[in-house]
Amino acid sequence: MSPTNPNREGQSCTGNIFTFSGISERSPLPNITLPSILQNIPTHYLHIRHMSIATRAMESNLRAAIAKRLQELSIGFYKKNNTGTLQSKILRDVEAIQLLTQQLFQFLPSTLLTIGVAVAVTAVRVPWFLLFFVATVPIAVILIRILRQPLRGLGFAEARSDRNNVLRRQMEGMSAHLIEMIKLIPITRAHGVETTEIAKIERKLVDVQQAAIRLDSIDAITNASSWVALRLFSCICLVVSASLAFTGRLGVTVGDVVLLTGYFDSLTSSVVQILAVLPQISKGFEAIGSVGEILECPDLEQDRGKKAVESVKGEFIFDSVSFAYPHTQQWAIKDFSLHVEPGETIAIVGRSGAGKSTLLNLIIGFLRPNKGRILLDGQDLNTLDLRTYRRFLSVVSQETILFEGTVRENILYGTEGISQEQLWQAVEDANAREFIDELPQGIDTFIGENGAKLSGGQRQRLAIARALIRNPRVLILDEATASLDTASEVSIQEALERLMANRTSFVVAHRLSTIRKANRIVVLDKGHIVEIGDRAQLLVNQGLFAQLHALQT
Ligand SMILES: Nc1ncnc2c1ncn2[C@@H]1O[C@H](COP(=O)(O)OP(=O)(O)OP(=O)(O)O)[C@@H](O)[C@H]1O
Ligand SMILES: [Mg+2]
Repeated sequence: MSPTNPNREGQSCTGNIFTFSGISERSPLPNITLPSILQNIPTHYLHIRHMSIATRAMESNLRAAIAKRLQELSIGFYKKNNTGTLQSKILRDVEAIQLLTQQLFQFLPSTLLTIGVAVAVTAVRVPWFLLFFVATVPIAVILIRILRQPLRGLGFAEARSDRNNVLRRQMEGMSAHLIEMIKLIPITRAHGVETTEIAKIERKLVDVQQAAIRLDSIDAITNASSWVALRLFSCICLVVSASLAFTGRLGVTVGDVVLLTGYFDSLTSSVVQILAVLPQISKGFEAIGSVGEILECPDLEQDRGKKAVESVKGEFIFDSVSFAYPHTQQWAIKDFSLHVEPGETIAIVGRSGAGKSTLLNLIIGFLRPNKGRILLDGQDLNTLDLRTYRRFLSVVSQETILFEGTVRENILYGTEGISQEQLWQAVEDANAREFIDELPQGIDTFIGENGAKLSGGQRQRLAIARALIRNPRVLILDEATASLDTASEVSIQEALERLMANRTSFVVAHRLSTIRKANRIVVLDKGHIVEIGDRAQLLVNQGLFAQLHALQT
Protein backbone atom coordinates (compact mmCIF):
# COMPACT_ATOMS: atom_id res chain seq x y z
CA MET A 1 0.00 0.00 0.00
CA SER A 2 1.13 3.48 -0.71
CA PRO A 3 2.66 5.69 1.96
CA THR A 4 0.48 8.55 0.74
CA ASN A 5 -2.63 6.47 1.14
CA PRO A 6 -4.97 8.15 3.60
CA ASN A 7 -6.19 4.75 4.73
CA ARG A 8 -3.60 4.40 7.49
CA GLU A 9 -5.86 3.18 10.27
CA GLY A 10 -7.22 0.37 8.15
CA GLN A 11 -3.69 -0.60 7.22
CA SER A 12 -2.47 -0.92 10.80
CA CYS A 13 -5.48 -3.01 11.69
CA THR A 14 -4.96 -5.63 9.01
CA GLY A 15 -1.26 -5.44 9.81
CA ASN A 16 -1.92 -6.40 13.44
CA ILE A 17 -3.78 -9.54 12.54
CA PHE A 18 -1.11 -10.54 10.06
CA THR A 19 1.65 -10.14 12.68
CA PHE A 20 -0.43 -11.92 15.33
CA SER A 21 -0.85 -15.05 13.24
CA GLY A 22 2.81 -14.93 12.17
CA ILE A 23 4.14 -14.99 15.75
CA SER A 24 1.94 -17.90 16.77
CA GLU A 25 3.56 -20.17 14.17
CA ARG A 26 7.10 -18.97 14.92
CA SER A 27 7.62 -18.51 11.22
CA PRO A 28 10.69 -16.67 9.83
CA LEU A 29 8.86 -13.37 10.26
CA PRO A 30 11.69 -10.95 9.28
CA ASN A 31 12.15 -12.87 6.01
CA ILE A 32 8.62 -11.93 5.00
CA THR A 33 8.40 -8.57 6.72
CA LEU A 34 11.47 -6.95 5.18
CA PRO A 35 10.65 -7.75 1.52
CA SER A 36 7.02 -6.93 2.11
CA ILE A 37 8.04 -3.50 3.42
CA LEU A 38 10.68 -2.91 0.73
CA GLN A 39 8.37 -3.86 -2.12
CA ASN A 40 6.54 -0.65 -1.34
CA ILE A 41 9.15 1.36 -3.25
CA PRO A 42 8.75 -0.27 -6.69
CA THR A 43 5.04 -1.03 -6.35
CA HIS A 44 4.17 2.42 -5.08
CA TYR A 45 6.26 3.98 -7.84
CA LEU A 46 4.53 1.87 -10.50
CA HIS A 47 1.11 2.52 -8.99
CA ILE A 48 1.53 6.30 -8.88
CA ARG A 49 3.25 6.48 -12.25
CA HIS A 50 0.56 4.53 -14.07
CA MET A 51 -2.18 6.34 -12.30
CA SER A 52 -0.56 9.62 -13.22
CA ILE A 53 -0.30 8.54 -16.86
CA ALA A 54 -4.00 7.66 -16.86
CA THR A 55 -5.35 10.71 -15.02
CA ARG A 56 -3.08 13.23 -16.75
CA ALA A 57 -4.05 11.79 -20.12
CA MET A 58 -7.68 12.15 -19.11
CA GLU A 59 -7.01 15.75 -18.05
CA SER A 60 -5.43 16.78 -21.34
CA ASN A 61 -7.95 14.82 -23.43
CA LEU A 62 -10.76 16.57 -21.61
CA ARG A 63 -9.22 19.99 -22.28
CA ALA A 64 -8.72 19.04 -25.93
CA ALA A 65 -12.37 17.93 -26.14
CA ILE A 66 -13.49 21.26 -24.66
CA ALA A 67 -11.28 23.19 -27.09
CA LYS A 68 -12.76 21.21 -29.99
CA ARG A 69 -16.26 21.85 -28.76
CA LEU A 70 -15.57 25.58 -28.37
CA GLN A 71 -14.73 25.63 -32.08
CA GLU A 72 -18.09 24.01 -32.88
CA LEU A 73 -20.35 26.16 -30.72
CA SER A 74 -22.32 28.91 -32.37
CA ILE A 75 -21.15 32.51 -32.20
CA GLY A 76 -24.28 33.21 -30.14
CA PHE A 77 -22.85 31.01 -27.36
CA TYR A 78 -19.96 33.45 -26.95
CA LYS A 79 -22.33 36.37 -26.52
CA LYS A 80 -23.78 34.55 -23.48
CA ASN A 81 -20.59 33.14 -21.94
CA ASN A 82 -17.62 35.33 -21.21
CA THR A 83 -13.95 34.46 -21.43
CA GLY A 84 -13.40 34.27 -17.66
CA THR A 85 -16.16 31.70 -17.13
CA LEU A 86 -14.88 29.53 -19.96
CA GLN A 87 -11.31 29.83 -18.74
CA SER A 88 -12.35 28.79 -15.24
CA LYS A 89 -14.07 25.71 -16.66
CA ILE A 90 -11.08 24.69 -18.77
CA LEU A 91 -8.51 25.20 -16.03
CA ARG A 92 -10.11 24.90 -12.60
CA ASP A 93 -12.91 22.42 -13.27
CA VAL A 94 -10.80 20.05 -15.33
CA GLU A 95 -8.26 20.04 -12.51
CA ALA A 96 -11.03 19.15 -10.03
CA ILE A 97 -12.08 16.25 -12.26
CA GLN A 98 -8.49 15.06 -12.45
CA LEU A 99 -8.30 15.12 -8.62
CA LEU A 100 -11.59 13.24 -8.45
CA THR A 101 -10.30 10.40 -10.63
CA GLN A 102 -7.10 10.32 -8.63
CA GLN A 103 -9.14 9.98 -5.42
CA LEU A 104 -11.33 7.32 -6.91
CA PHE A 105 -8.40 5.22 -8.14
CA GLN A 106 -5.95 5.75 -5.35
CA PHE A 107 -8.07 5.77 -2.26
CA LEU A 108 -11.42 4.18 -2.87
CA PRO A 109 -10.24 0.66 -3.88
CA SER A 110 -8.14 0.17 -0.72
CA THR A 111 -10.91 1.50 1.50
CA LEU A 112 -13.52 -0.70 -0.12
CA LEU A 113 -11.16 -3.68 0.22
CA THR A 114 -10.79 -3.02 3.93
CA ILE A 115 -14.58 -2.89 4.32
CA GLY A 116 -14.98 -6.05 2.23
CA VAL A 117 -12.44 -8.00 4.30
CA ALA A 118 -14.00 -6.86 7.58
CA VAL A 119 -17.47 -7.90 6.48
CA ALA A 120 -16.30 -11.23 5.00
CA VAL A 121 -14.32 -12.32 8.05
CA THR A 122 -17.15 -11.32 10.39
CA ALA A 123 -19.61 -13.25 8.22
CA VAL A 124 -17.47 -16.35 8.57
CA ARG A 125 -16.67 -16.05 12.29
CA VAL A 126 -19.77 -14.45 13.89
CA PRO A 127 -22.44 -14.25 11.13
CA TRP A 128 -25.25 -12.77 13.26
CA PHE A 129 -22.97 -9.86 14.23
CA LEU A 130 -23.26 -8.64 10.66
CA LEU A 131 -26.75 -7.48 11.62
CA PHE A 132 -25.10 -5.08 14.02
CA PHE A 133 -22.80 -3.80 11.24
CA VAL A 134 -25.71 -3.39 8.85
CA ALA A 135 -27.94 -1.65 11.40
CA THR A 136 -25.13 0.75 12.31
CA VAL A 137 -25.07 2.57 8.97
CA PRO A 138 -28.70 3.78 8.84
CA ILE A 139 -28.69 4.63 12.54
CA ALA A 140 -25.41 6.53 12.09
CA VAL A 141 -26.92 8.49 9.18
CA ILE A 142 -29.90 9.46 11.34
CA LEU A 143 -27.56 10.41 14.18
CA ILE A 144 -25.42 12.55 11.85
CA ARG A 145 -28.55 14.35 10.67
CA ILE A 146 -29.53 15.07 14.27
CA LEU A 147 -26.03 16.32 15.08
CA ARG A 148 -26.15 18.66 12.03
CA GLN A 149 -29.37 20.30 13.21
CA PRO A 150 -27.63 23.29 14.83
CA LEU A 151 -26.28 24.21 11.35
CA ARG A 152 -29.77 24.98 10.14
CA GLY A 153 -30.16 27.58 12.83
CA LEU A 154 -26.98 29.25 11.55
CA GLY A 155 -28.29 29.46 8.00
CA PHE A 156 -26.28 26.59 6.52
CA ALA A 157 -29.34 24.62 5.56
CA GLU A 158 -28.58 23.96 1.89
CA ALA A 159 -27.20 20.67 0.74
CA ARG A 160 -23.48 20.47 0.18
CA SER A 161 -23.90 20.12 -3.59
CA ASP A 162 -25.87 23.40 -3.71
CA ARG A 163 -23.09 25.14 -1.82
CA ASN A 164 -20.54 23.67 -4.22
CA ASN A 165 -22.56 25.00 -7.10
CA VAL A 166 -22.76 28.45 -5.49
CA LEU A 167 -19.00 28.50 -4.91
CA ARG A 168 -18.26 27.42 -8.46
CA ARG A 169 -20.49 30.13 -9.94
CA GLN A 170 -18.88 32.72 -7.66
CA MET A 171 -15.42 31.59 -8.81
CA GLU A 172 -16.48 31.80 -12.45
CA GLY A 173 -17.91 35.26 -11.86
CA MET A 174 -14.73 36.40 -10.16
CA SER A 175 -12.55 34.99 -12.93
CA ALA A 176 -14.68 36.77 -15.56
CA HIS A 177 -14.48 39.98 -13.57
CA LEU A 178 -10.69 39.75 -13.19
CA ILE A 179 -10.19 39.35 -16.93
CA GLU A 180 -12.50 42.28 -17.59
CA MET A 181 -10.62 44.36 -15.03
CA ILE A 182 -7.28 43.64 -16.73
CA LYS A 183 -8.70 44.51 -20.15
CA LEU A 184 -10.13 47.75 -18.78
CA ILE A 185 -6.93 48.91 -17.07
CA PRO A 186 -6.04 51.59 -19.69
CA ILE A 187 -9.59 53.03 -19.51
CA THR A 188 -9.68 52.73 -15.71
CA ARG A 189 -6.39 54.63 -15.40
CA ALA A 190 -7.42 57.21 -17.98
CA HIS A 191 -10.58 57.94 -15.99
CA GLY A 192 -8.81 57.76 -12.62
CA VAL A 193 -11.30 55.23 -11.21
CA GLU A 194 -8.78 52.71 -9.89
CA THR A 195 -10.29 52.68 -6.40
CA THR A 196 -13.77 51.91 -7.74
CA GLU A 197 -12.39 48.97 -9.73
CA ILE A 198 -10.44 47.69 -6.73
CA ALA A 199 -13.56 47.97 -4.58
CA LYS A 200 -15.60 46.03 -7.17
CA ILE A 201 -13.08 43.20 -7.32
CA GLU A 202 -12.83 43.14 -3.52
CA ARG A 203 -16.60 42.68 -3.28
CA LYS A 204 -16.35 39.70 -5.63
CA LEU A 205 -13.51 38.27 -3.57
CA VAL A 206 -15.54 38.62 -0.38
CA ASP A 207 -18.44 36.76 -2.06
CA VAL A 208 -16.14 33.91 -3.04
CA GLN A 209 -14.57 33.89 0.41
CA GLN A 210 -17.96 33.66 2.13
CA ALA A 211 -19.19 30.90 -0.16
CA ALA A 212 -16.00 28.95 0.56
CA ILE A 213 -16.28 29.46 4.33
CA ARG A 214 -19.89 28.21 4.28
CA LEU A 215 -18.81 25.15 2.34
CA ASP A 216 -15.89 24.45 4.68
CA SER A 217 -18.20 24.86 7.69
CA ILE A 218 -20.64 22.32 6.32
CA ASP A 219 -17.73 19.94 5.72
CA ALA A 220 -16.36 20.46 9.22
CA ILE A 221 -19.65 19.73 10.95
CA THR A 222 -20.45 16.78 8.71
CA ASN A 223 -17.05 15.21 9.24
CA ALA A 224 -17.03 15.76 12.99
CA SER A 225 -20.55 14.47 13.51
CA SER A 226 -19.91 11.37 11.43
CA TRP A 227 -16.76 10.72 13.41
CA VAL A 228 -18.65 11.08 16.69
CA ALA A 229 -21.51 8.85 15.52
CA LEU A 230 -19.23 6.07 14.35
CA ARG A 231 -17.03 6.22 17.46
CA LEU A 232 -20.16 5.89 19.62
CA PHE A 233 -20.98 2.75 17.71
CA SER A 234 -17.45 1.43 18.23
CA CYS A 235 -18.03 1.74 21.99
CA ILE A 236 -21.42 0.06 21.71
CA CYS A 237 -19.82 -2.73 19.65
CA LEU A 238 -17.19 -3.28 22.36
CA VAL A 239 -19.76 -3.24 25.18
CA VAL A 240 -22.22 -5.59 23.41
CA SER A 241 -19.59 -8.12 22.30
CA ALA A 242 -17.78 -8.02 25.66
CA SER A 243 -20.99 -8.55 27.64
CA LEU A 244 -21.95 -11.45 25.35
CA ALA A 245 -18.53 -13.02 25.92
CA PHE A 246 -18.74 -12.34 29.67
CA THR A 247 -22.17 -14.00 30.01
CA GLY A 248 -21.15 -16.78 27.61
CA ARG A 249 -24.22 -16.23 25.42
CA LEU A 250 -24.38 -16.91 21.62
CA GLY A 251 -20.97 -18.60 21.79
CA VAL A 252 -18.99 -15.36 21.61
CA THR A 253 -15.40 -15.87 22.84
CA VAL A 254 -12.85 -13.32 24.07
CA GLY A 255 -11.01 -13.81 20.74
CA ASP A 256 -14.23 -12.88 18.90
CA VAL A 257 -14.50 -9.67 20.95
CA VAL A 258 -10.99 -8.64 19.82
CA LEU A 259 -11.78 -9.60 16.25
CA LEU A 260 -15.17 -7.90 16.15
CA THR A 261 -14.05 -4.64 17.75
CA GLY A 262 -10.91 -4.60 15.57
CA TYR A 263 -12.87 -5.05 12.38
CA PHE A 264 -15.62 -2.74 13.43
CA ASP A 265 -12.94 -0.11 14.04
CA SER A 266 -11.40 -0.52 10.62
CA LEU A 267 -14.88 -0.53 9.09
CA THR A 268 -15.86 2.71 10.77
CA SER A 269 -12.48 4.29 10.02
CA SER A 270 -12.95 3.48 6.35
CA VAL A 271 -16.40 5.02 6.37
CA VAL A 272 -15.08 8.13 8.17
CA GLN A 273 -12.32 8.43 5.58
CA ILE A 274 -14.77 8.12 2.72
CA LEU A 275 -16.82 10.86 4.34
CA ALA A 276 -13.66 12.96 4.70
CA VAL A 277 -12.82 12.82 0.99
CA LEU A 278 -16.47 13.27 0.05
CA PRO A 279 -16.06 17.07 -0.26
CA GLN A 280 -13.37 16.63 -2.92
CA ILE A 281 -15.42 13.98 -4.63
CA SER A 282 -18.53 16.12 -4.74
CA LYS A 283 -16.42 19.06 -5.95
CA GLY A 284 -15.24 16.76 -8.73
CA PHE A 285 -18.80 15.82 -9.65
CA GLU A 286 -19.82 19.48 -9.61
CA ALA A 287 -16.90 20.15 -11.99
CA ILE A 288 -18.16 17.38 -14.28
CA GLY A 289 -21.51 19.18 -14.42
CA SER A 290 -19.74 22.45 -15.13
CA VAL A 291 -17.64 21.05 -17.97
CA GLY A 292 -20.80 19.35 -19.25
CA GLU A 293 -22.31 22.81 -19.72
CA ILE A 294 -19.85 23.18 -22.60
CA LEU A 295 -19.57 19.60 -23.82
CA GLU A 296 -23.33 19.04 -23.86
CA CYS A 297 -24.38 22.53 -24.91
CA PRO A 298 -26.85 22.14 -27.78
CA ASP A 299 -26.05 25.62 -29.13
CA LEU A 300 -23.91 24.14 -31.90
CA GLU A 301 -23.38 25.37 -35.35
CA GLN A 302 -24.98 22.37 -37.04
CA ASP A 303 -22.61 21.53 -39.87
CA ARG A 304 -22.19 17.79 -39.64
CA GLY A 305 -23.83 15.81 -42.41
CA LYS A 306 -24.68 18.94 -44.37
CA LYS A 307 -23.70 19.49 -47.97
CA ALA A 308 -20.10 20.65 -48.49
CA VAL A 309 -19.63 23.71 -50.68
CA GLU A 310 -17.17 22.93 -53.49
CA SER A 311 -17.37 26.20 -55.40
CA VAL A 312 -19.15 29.52 -55.06
CA LYS A 313 -20.49 31.72 -57.88
CA GLY A 314 -21.71 34.33 -55.43
CA GLU A 315 -25.44 34.69 -56.12
CA PHE A 316 -27.45 35.53 -53.00
CA ILE A 317 -31.22 35.55 -52.68
CA PHE A 318 -32.70 36.91 -49.46
CA ASP A 319 -36.23 35.60 -49.21
CA SER A 320 -38.22 37.59 -46.57
CA VAL A 321 -35.46 37.20 -43.98
CA SER A 322 -36.30 38.23 -40.42
CA PHE A 323 -34.12 37.97 -37.38
CA ALA A 324 -34.49 38.95 -33.72
CA TYR A 325 -31.81 38.49 -31.07
CA PRO A 326 -32.82 36.09 -28.28
CA HIS A 327 -34.68 37.73 -25.37
CA THR A 328 -35.43 40.90 -27.34
CA GLN A 329 -38.82 42.20 -28.44
CA GLN A 330 -37.72 43.85 -31.68
CA TRP A 331 -36.73 42.52 -35.08
CA ALA A 332 -33.12 43.47 -35.86
CA ILE A 333 -33.84 42.50 -39.51
CA LYS A 334 -37.41 42.42 -40.77
CA ASP A 335 -38.76 41.04 -44.06
CA PHE A 336 -35.51 41.59 -45.92
CA SER A 337 -35.79 40.51 -49.57
CA LEU A 338 -33.06 41.07 -52.14
CA HIS A 339 -31.57 39.32 -55.19
CA VAL A 340 -27.82 39.80 -55.50
CA GLU A 341 -26.13 38.80 -58.76
CA PRO A 342 -22.65 37.20 -58.66
CA GLY A 343 -19.96 39.87 -58.62
CA GLU A 344 -22.28 42.65 -57.51
CA THR A 345 -21.22 45.15 -54.87
CA ILE A 346 -23.98 45.89 -52.40
CA ALA A 347 -23.49 48.79 -50.04
CA ILE A 348 -25.51 48.74 -46.83
CA VAL A 349 -26.25 52.10 -45.31
CA GLY A 350 -28.31 53.23 -42.37
CA ARG A 351 -28.23 54.89 -38.98
CA SER A 352 -26.39 53.29 -36.06
CA GLY A 353 -28.38 50.28 -34.84
CA ALA A 354 -30.25 49.91 -38.16
CA GLY A 355 -29.19 46.26 -38.45
CA LYS A 356 -26.22 46.45 -40.82
CA SER A 357 -23.82 44.28 -38.83
CA THR A 358 -26.67 41.86 -38.07
CA LEU A 359 -27.31 41.45 -41.79
CA LEU A 360 -23.62 40.75 -42.41
CA ASN A 361 -23.62 38.14 -39.62
CA LEU A 362 -26.61 36.46 -41.30
CA ILE A 363 -24.63 36.33 -44.56
CA ILE A 364 -21.58 34.83 -42.81
CA GLY A 365 -23.90 32.30 -41.15
CA PHE A 366 -23.04 33.35 -37.57
CA LEU A 367 -26.74 34.03 -37.11
CA ARG A 368 -29.60 32.10 -38.65
CA PRO A 369 -32.83 33.74 -39.84
CA ASN A 370 -35.86 33.21 -37.58
CA LYS A 371 -38.04 33.52 -40.66
CA GLY A 372 -37.28 33.33 -44.37
CA ARG A 373 -34.24 31.93 -46.14
CA ILE A 374 -30.91 33.00 -47.55
CA LEU A 375 -30.00 31.15 -50.74
CA LEU A 376 -26.40 30.91 -51.95
CA ASP A 377 -26.25 29.93 -55.63
CA GLY A 378 -29.79 28.61 -55.23
CA GLN A 379 -29.14 26.56 -52.07
CA ASP A 380 -30.45 27.41 -48.61
CA LEU A 381 -27.54 28.35 -46.30
CA ASN A 382 -29.25 26.21 -43.64
CA THR A 383 -28.58 23.08 -45.70
CA LEU A 384 -24.89 23.81 -46.29
CA ASP A 385 -21.78 23.02 -44.26
CA LEU A 386 -20.93 26.59 -43.37
CA ARG A 387 -17.29 25.74 -42.66
CA THR A 388 -16.81 24.84 -46.31
CA TYR A 389 -18.76 27.90 -47.47
CA ARG A 390 -16.58 30.23 -45.40
CA ARG A 391 -13.42 29.10 -47.23
CA PHE A 392 -14.73 31.28 -50.07
CA LEU A 393 -15.38 34.23 -47.80
CA SER A 394 -13.24 37.06 -46.40
CA VAL A 395 -14.40 39.27 -43.60
CA VAL A 396 -13.04 42.58 -42.41
CA SER A 397 -15.09 43.43 -39.37
CA GLN A 398 -15.79 46.53 -37.30
CA GLU A 399 -13.25 45.43 -34.69
CA THR A 400 -10.01 44.23 -36.18
CA ILE A 401 -9.00 40.99 -34.51
CA LEU A 402 -5.27 40.32 -34.56
CA PHE A 403 -3.27 37.87 -32.47
CA GLU A 404 0.06 37.96 -30.72
CA GLY A 405 2.48 37.11 -33.51
CA THR A 406 4.34 38.71 -36.40
CA VAL A 407 2.81 40.85 -39.12
CA ARG A 408 3.46 38.01 -41.56
CA GLU A 409 1.69 35.41 -39.38
CA ASN A 410 -1.29 37.71 -38.98
CA ILE A 411 -1.65 38.27 -42.70
CA LEU A 412 -1.17 34.60 -43.59
CA TYR A 413 -3.58 33.39 -40.88
CA GLY A 414 -5.47 30.29 -42.00
CA THR A 415 -3.89 30.08 -45.46
CA GLU A 416 -1.42 27.61 -46.97
CA GLY A 417 1.03 27.69 -49.87
CA ILE A 418 1.05 31.46 -50.35
CA SER A 419 4.11 32.67 -52.27
CA GLN A 420 6.25 35.68 -51.28
CA GLU A 421 4.99 37.57 -54.36
CA GLN A 422 1.33 36.99 -53.42
CA LEU A 423 2.05 38.10 -49.86
CA TRP A 424 3.74 41.32 -50.91
CA GLN A 425 1.08 41.98 -53.53
CA ALA A 426 -1.59 41.82 -50.83
CA VAL A 427 0.50 44.09 -48.60
CA GLU A 428 0.85 46.59 -51.45
CA ASP A 429 -2.85 46.42 -52.34
CA ALA A 430 -3.81 47.02 -48.74
CA ASN A 431 -1.54 50.08 -48.73
CA ALA A 432 0.39 48.57 -45.82
CA ARG A 433 3.84 48.35 -47.41
CA GLU A 434 5.03 51.73 -46.22
CA PHE A 435 4.36 51.24 -42.52
CA ILE A 436 5.47 47.59 -42.53
CA ASP A 437 8.85 48.59 -44.01
CA GLU A 438 9.29 51.08 -41.19
CA LEU A 439 8.74 48.50 -38.44
CA PRO A 440 11.95 47.40 -36.62
CA GLN A 441 11.96 43.89 -38.09
CA GLY A 442 9.76 44.65 -41.09
CA ILE A 443 7.12 42.03 -41.81
CA ASP A 444 8.59 39.79 -39.07
CA THR A 445 7.96 42.29 -36.27
CA PHE A 446 5.87 41.04 -33.34
CA ILE A 447 2.80 43.23 -32.99
CA GLY A 448 1.76 42.42 -29.38
CA GLU A 449 -1.60 41.12 -28.16
CA ASN A 450 -4.33 42.13 -30.64
CA GLY A 451 -1.81 44.30 -32.46
CA ALA A 452 -1.25 46.52 -29.43
CA LYS A 453 1.90 47.97 -30.99
CA LEU A 454 0.04 49.22 -34.08
CA SER A 455 -2.20 52.19 -34.71
CA GLY A 456 -5.90 51.74 -35.48
CA GLY A 457 -5.41 52.45 -39.20
CA GLN A 458 -2.40 50.11 -39.37
CA ARG A 459 -4.41 47.34 -37.74
CA GLN A 460 -7.16 47.78 -40.32
CA ARG A 461 -4.73 47.67 -43.20
CA LEU A 462 -3.39 44.36 -41.89
CA ALA A 463 -6.93 43.03 -41.71
CA ILE A 464 -7.52 44.14 -45.30
CA ALA A 465 -4.29 42.43 -46.43
CA ARG A 466 -5.51 39.29 -44.64
CA ALA A 467 -8.80 39.46 -46.55
CA LEU A 468 -7.01 40.09 -49.86
CA ILE A 469 -4.66 37.14 -49.55
CA ARG A 470 -7.51 34.65 -49.30
CA ASN A 471 -8.69 35.66 -52.78
CA PRO A 472 -12.34 35.18 -51.74
CA ARG A 473 -15.50 34.81 -53.85
CA VAL A 474 -17.55 36.72 -51.31
CA LEU A 475 -16.26 39.76 -49.49
CA ILE A 476 -17.71 41.26 -46.35
CA LEU A 477 -16.56 44.65 -45.14
CA ASP A 478 -17.99 46.23 -42.03
CA GLU A 479 -16.71 49.77 -41.71
CA ALA A 480 -13.37 48.58 -43.02
CA THR A 481 -12.08 52.01 -43.84
CA ALA A 482 -13.33 53.83 -40.75
CA SER A 483 -10.01 54.66 -39.13
CA LEU A 484 -7.96 55.57 -42.17
CA ASP A 485 -6.75 59.05 -42.99
CA THR A 486 -8.17 60.51 -46.18
CA ALA A 487 -5.02 59.78 -48.23
CA SER A 488 -4.93 56.12 -47.15
CA GLU A 489 -8.67 55.84 -47.57
CA VAL A 490 -8.43 56.88 -51.22
CA SER A 491 -5.70 54.35 -52.01
CA ILE A 492 -7.41 51.61 -50.00
CA GLN A 493 -10.59 52.42 -51.83
CA GLU A 494 -8.83 51.74 -55.15
CA ALA A 495 -7.45 48.48 -53.78
CA LEU A 496 -10.84 47.42 -52.49
CA GLU A 497 -12.47 48.31 -55.80
CA ARG A 498 -9.94 46.10 -57.59
CA LEU A 499 -10.62 43.38 -55.03
CA MET A 500 -14.38 43.66 -55.34
CA ALA A 501 -14.30 43.26 -59.11
CA ASN A 502 -15.91 39.90 -60.00
CA ARG A 503 -16.65 39.06 -56.39
CA THR A 504 -19.91 39.46 -54.58
CA SER A 505 -19.28 42.11 -51.93
CA PHE A 506 -21.33 43.40 -49.07
CA VAL A 507 -19.96 46.67 -47.76
CA VAL A 508 -21.05 48.65 -44.76
CA ALA A 509 -19.58 52.10 -44.56
CA HIS A 510 -20.69 55.10 -42.56
CA ARG A 511 -18.65 57.34 -44.81
CA LEU A 512 -20.85 57.51 -47.86
CA SER A 513 -17.95 58.64 -50.03
CA THR A 514 -16.37 55.20 -49.67
CA ILE A 515 -19.23 53.36 -51.37
CA ARG A 516 -19.45 55.49 -54.48
CA LYS A 517 -18.72 52.57 -56.79
CA ALA A 518 -21.31 50.21 -55.30
CA ASN A 519 -23.71 48.70 -57.86
CA ARG A 520 -26.60 49.14 -55.49
CA ILE A 521 -27.07 50.81 -52.16
CA VAL A 522 -29.50 49.29 -49.67
CA VAL A 523 -30.73 51.76 -47.08
CA LEU A 524 -31.81 50.10 -43.83
CA ASP A 525 -33.90 51.59 -41.07
CA LYS A 526 -34.87 49.52 -38.02
CA GLY A 527 -34.11 46.33 -39.96
CA HIS A 528 -36.32 47.25 -42.98
CA ILE A 529 -35.18 48.16 -46.46
CA VAL A 530 -36.41 51.73 -46.90
CA GLU A 531 -34.62 52.53 -50.14
CA ILE A 532 -32.64 50.72 -52.77
CA GLY A 533 -30.82 51.90 -55.87
CA ASP A 534 -27.59 53.48 -57.04
CA ARG A 535 -26.15 56.63 -55.56
CA ALA A 536 -27.54 59.02 -58.17
CA GLN A 537 -31.07 57.58 -57.92
CA LEU A 538 -31.06 57.72 -54.14
CA LEU A 539 -29.89 61.33 -54.10
CA VAL A 540 -32.74 62.25 -56.45
CA ASN A 541 -35.22 60.35 -54.23
CA GLN A 542 -34.65 62.77 -51.35
CA GLY A 543 -35.17 59.95 -48.85
CA LEU A 544 -33.11 58.73 -45.87
CA PHE A 545 -29.97 58.30 -47.98
CA ALA A 546 -30.17 61.89 -49.18
CA GLN A 547 -30.63 63.00 -45.56
CA LEU A 548 -27.59 61.02 -44.39
CA HIS A 549 -25.63 62.33 -47.35
CA ALA A 550 -26.59 65.92 -46.61
CA LEU A 551 -25.43 65.48 -43.00
CA GLN A 552 -22.00 64.36 -44.18
CA THR A 553 -21.45 66.96 -46.87
N1 LIG B 1 -26.15 40.47 -29.32
C1 LIG B 1 -27.22 41.25 -29.37
N2 LIG B 1 -28.26 41.01 -28.54
C2 LIG B 1 -29.36 41.77 -28.59
N3 LIG B 1 -29.52 42.80 -29.42
C3 LIG B 1 -28.53 43.10 -30.27
C4 LIG B 1 -27.32 42.35 -30.28
N4 LIG B 1 -26.52 42.87 -31.23
C5 LIG B 1 -27.18 43.91 -31.78
N5 LIG B 1 -28.38 44.05 -31.20
C6 LIG B 1 -29.41 45.04 -31.55
O1 LIG B 1 -29.79 44.84 -32.89
C7 LIG B 1 -29.94 46.07 -33.58
C8 LIG B 1 -29.06 46.10 -34.82
O2 LIG B 1 -27.71 46.09 -34.41
P1 LIG B 1 -26.50 46.12 -35.45
O3 LIG B 1 -25.27 45.84 -34.72
O4 LIG B 1 -26.83 45.24 -36.59
O5 LIG B 1 -26.53 47.64 -35.92
P2 LIG B 1 -25.60 48.39 -36.96
O6 LIG B 1 -26.49 48.88 -38.03
O7 LIG B 1 -24.47 47.53 -37.36
O8 LIG B 1 -25.08 49.63 -36.10
P3 LIG B 1 -23.66 50.37 -36.16
O9 LIG B 1 -23.68 51.21 -37.38
O10 LIG B 1 -23.66 51.20 -34.94
O11 LIG B 1 -22.59 49.34 -36.18
C9 LIG B 1 -29.60 47.16 -32.57
O12 LIG B 1 -30.81 47.67 -32.07
C10 LIG B 1 -28.86 46.43 -31.47
O13 LIG B 1 -29.14 47.02 -30.23
MG1 LIG C 1 -22.38 47.57 -36.96
